[in-house]
Amino acid sequence: MSSARAVVDLDVTGATISRHLYGHFAEHLGRCIYGGFYVGEDSSIPNEGGIRLDVVEALRALQIPNLRWPGGCFADEYHWRDGIGPKEQRPRMVNTHWGNVEENNHFGTHEFMALCELLGADAYVNGNIGSGTVQEMSDWVEYLTRDGDSPMSRLRKANGRDEPWKVPYWGLGNEAWGCGGHMRAEAYADEARRYSTFCRNHGDNTLYRIAAGAADDDLAWTETLMKAVSCLGCAREPRGMFQGISFHYYSHDGSGLNKNPATAFSDEQYYTTMIKAVDIDRVIAGHTAVMDAYDPKRRIGLICDEWGTWWNTEPGTNPRFLYQQNTLRDALVAGVHFDIFHKHAARLHMANIAQTVNVLQSMILTDDAGGMVLTPTYHVFEMNKGHHDALQLPVHLIERPDAYDADGAQLDLVSISASTKGANALISVSNLALDSDTTLTLDLRGRTVTGHHARVLTADEPQRHNTTAAPDAVAPADLDLALDGGVLTVTLPRHSFSTIHLDLA
Ligand code: AHR
Repeated sequence: MSSARAVVDLDVTGATISRHLYGHFAEHLGRCIYGGFYVGEDSSIPNEGGIRLDVVEALRALQIPNLRWPGGCFADEYHWRDGIGPKEQRPRMVNTHWGNVEENNHFGTHEFMALCELLGADAYVNGNIGSGTVQEMSDWVEYLTRDGDSPMSRLRKANGRDEPWKVPYWGLGNEAWGCGGHMRAEAYADEARRYSTFCRNHGDNTLYRIAAGAADDDLAWTETLMKAVSCLGCAREPRGMFQGISFHYYSHDGSGLNKNPATAFSDEQYYTTMIKAVDIDRVIAGHTAVMDAYDPKRRIGLICDEWGTWWNTEPGTNPRFLYQQNTLRDALVAGVHFDIFHKHAARLHMANIAQTVNVLQSMILTDDAGGMVLTPTYHVFEMNKGHHDALQLPVHLIERPDAYDADGAQLDLVSISASTKGANALISVSNLALDSDTTLTLDLRGRTVTGHHARVLTADEPQRHNTTAAPDAVAPADLDLALDGGVLTVTLPRHSFSTIHLDLA
């Protein structure tokens, strides 16, 4: 048994933790859309307009704030006009990036917006810069968001939708340095400015335009975009061209298609993953420092619109479908990411896990027989819901277990963050040690605690995961804690994620 001690100042609040840090991502990739979100109207699986209702219900319970679509790499080969009108007349295409499979375009603009409405989530539409045109993107914005009489609003109405939709978030291409066109940063920056100019705000729909950003810690890419958007020394505020700049960060070990086993991983691979996962703290701090130099008032948002684990795919599945299992290890990756996201909430506006269903670090795994499994990662999103739009609380970890040392790379074994909203506080804490439970003592200062409740997500081993045969192998359970005055004591099992809810006077 090891021990940790932290002071939490319940009355010292910081930045708002945007609910959009709990955002999602759905790409036309493998079985994310087809078979995951969408089964078609004729399916025996209960659906509305082809959208799977069990998946919707599970995600509504997470209060997912936004959904990014249609990619990813697919976004830069997607032509939106192919996905409107009668389904049987929609042109087909080859999804060259993800398995060379035929895409029938049955899930298009109207289906995506219907999905967002069912989920109660904001739409984040990612436009095509790589193989599209400025006119095409401009028309799509008009089709989606313009009221009254115009060529695109008439087309939308002819396709059965009178009212414009609200589309708050708009992506200007994806991974422009790679699958989005292999551009140099300077070339992309100019393209993004040009496309952004013609993505108009129609009526009261105001677009938050997101420039396609860096891979990992490519700070030079971010700096080029900041130079392109800002006007150092000018009176003009640096928000004209785009309001957000993204970056992508995946936690994996290895390269190409040989990454790391999703379930049969070693202790060493577990710790390597955790070291990689917490390194996103350094990456966000780096992008933030670059952005601060050009935008000290923090008007431009940093957006991590792809994050998560990336493992070897499940045996027998198409390797380009990126279908992987999800263990307690994945849940702990999510837990530490959220602690880090909360810490950077003043600059980090949005984060989108890749991807919501059946691809990479999913919330949900489905099968064609109608089976659906909630993954351990799903439970972290659910347990952390109380952080949505809450205010950061400082946590001072003043005693902690010895760090894990992997050839000089140190991993803190306790990760913690806290927030408050009204008369509640929520503390999230992970014990990453594989071999030791930890007694955590929290010195709660500044407000009186009138009630408490804790839950824990753990299992006998970090490889444990959920299947249709054992859907609750990794599921939250109540966790005992003791409160004496303002001092709370709780035992965190090895490899566990816990949340502590406090009622405050
Ligand atoms: O999420 C899978 C892929 O990873 C996305 O399509 C791409 O943007 C990234 O490389």
